[in-house]
Amino acid sequence: MSNVVIVGTQWGDEGKGKIVDLLTEFADAVVRFQGGHNAGHTLVIQGKKYVLHLIPSGIVRANKLCLIGNGVVVDPGALIEEIQHLAELGVAVNSNLFKVSAQANLIMPYHRELDIAREKRKGKGKIGTTGRGIGPAYEDRAARRGIRMSDLLNRQIFEAKLRDNLAYHNFMLENFYNAATFSFEAIRDETMRMAAVLAPYIEDVGQLLHQATRNGQCILFEGAQGTMLDVEHGTYPFVTSSNTVAGNAAIGSGVGPTALHHVLGITKAYTTRVGSGPMPTELNDSIGEHLSRVGHEVGATTGRARRCGWFDAVVVRHAARTNGLTSMALTKMDVLDELETLRVCVAYERNGSRIKDMPSDPSVLEMCEPIYENLPGWKTSLSQAKCLEDLPPEALAYIRKLEELTGVRVSILSTGPDRDQTMVLENPFL
Ligand code: IMP
Repeated sequence: MSNVVIVGTQWGDEGKGKIVDLLTEFADAVVRFQGGHNAGHTLVIQGKKYVLHLIPSGIVRANKLCLIGNGVVVDPGALIEEIQHLAELGVAVNSNLFKVSAQANLIMPYHRELDIAREKRKGKGKIGTTGRGIGPAYEDRAARRGIRMSDLLNRQIFEAKLRDNLAYHNFMLENFYNAATFSFEAIRDETMRMAAVLAPYIEDVGQLLHQATRNGQCILFEGAQGTMLDVEHGTYPFVTSSNTVAGNAAIGSGVGPTALHHVLGITKAYTTRVGSGPMPTELNDSIGEHLSRVGHEVGATTGRARRCGWFDAVVVRHAARTNGLTSMALTKMDVLDELETLRVCVAYERNGSRIKDMPSDPSVLEMCEPIYENLPGWKTSLSQAKCLEDLPPEALAYIRKLEELTGVRVSILSTGPDRDQTMVLENPFL
C-alpha cells in the first residue's frame, strides 16, 4: 500500500489534472488539501467536457472517495455550482462518495470583494490574483475568526460569527477601500439556503482518511497551484495564500506526515506563470508566443494568457528540496516538438556571480539573469511515442539533462493531452 502526493513544481498549470486523473485509477480516495476554486482543470472523457475547480476529478470514476480537506477554502456557491454542473453531465455527486471537511473555512461574498478591492488599490503593484477571495479567506482563518463548514450546521453559531465578521469587514470595505458593503440578512439567508444543500456532504475528513489507511486503502493527495506560488517558499508576495508544498498534504487533510509515501512533482517541459512577479526565463518574443499557442497556455479558471519561458532548473531544484520530491512527471514535452534549439536555464547570474540555488529574497530573484545551456531540438512529433525507445535521441537527451540538473528521476512522461499519450515508466502507487 502506498499513498502519493501530487504537487506542481513550477507556478501551477503544469498539467496536474491529467496525471491526477491517470493515477486515480490506482487510488481508493483522492483528497484536495489546499487552495480553493482558484485552481481549475478541464477533463475530457468520452467526448464530455468537465470543468472542475474544487471537487477532485476522481468524481467522474465509479467508487472513488473524493474529499475536500480542512486546508481548502470553500466557496459554498462555487461548490454547489460544480455539483450541479456534474449532475447536468450525468454525474450524480453521491454523499457517500464525496465529502467536505467540517473544518474547512468558507469563502464568503465579502472575501471576494476584499480581494478585488485590494488588487485595485495596489494598482501596478497588484499580485494578479484570481479574484476568488482566496487570500482574505485564509487571513480570516489565521485571525481565528473564519467561518467553517461545521458552522453551516449550527445556525446560532453561524449568525454570531457572521455578525462579527461583517462588523469588521464592512468597516474596512467602506472606510479603507471605499467599496460596497454587505447586508447581514442577505448573506445569512443565502448561506443558510446553501447549507441545506451541502449538509449531507460535511464530514470529518481526517477521520475518513485515517479509517481508509487502516483498511489498507491507497490515497492520492491532490495539490493545487505550484511550489513557486507557496505562501512561504514561493516568490512572496506574488504567491497564493496557502502552502502548496507536499508537507501541507498532511496538515491540510488531517493525517500525519508518515502517511505520505511518494511525492510526485508535476513538471512542465518549459515554464509558465499567470499573474505578476519574477519569472527569470520569461520570453517576450516569437518563441514565447509559440509556446503559448502550441501549449494552449490560457488559464482554465480566469481565461488569462499565461507568461511562457524556457525550462528553469533552479526553480525545479527548489521544488525538489521544498517538497522532498521522489520523482517527476514531465508534461507537455510535445509542445517543444518544432523548435530547432532548446534552452535550459541551469543557474542564474547576478553581479558577475553564479547563483545555483533559488534566492530566498524575491527582490534578488528580480535582478537575476538566466544562464542557459543549449540543446538540439528533435524536430519531429512525439505524439505517437509509446516507450522511451520510440523517442528521438534529442528528446531522450533533453529528459536526461533535466533529471541531471534537478536530481530527480522522471517516472511519468506526457507527450500529448490524451490519456494514452502518457508513458508510465514507474507507477508511484506500486
Ligand atoms: P490567488 O490564489 O487568487 O490569491 O492568486 C495569487 C496568485 O496565484 C496569482 O498570481 C494567481 O494567478 C496565482 N494562481 C492561483 N491559482 C492558480 C492556479 O491554479 N494556476 C496558476 N496560477 C494560480
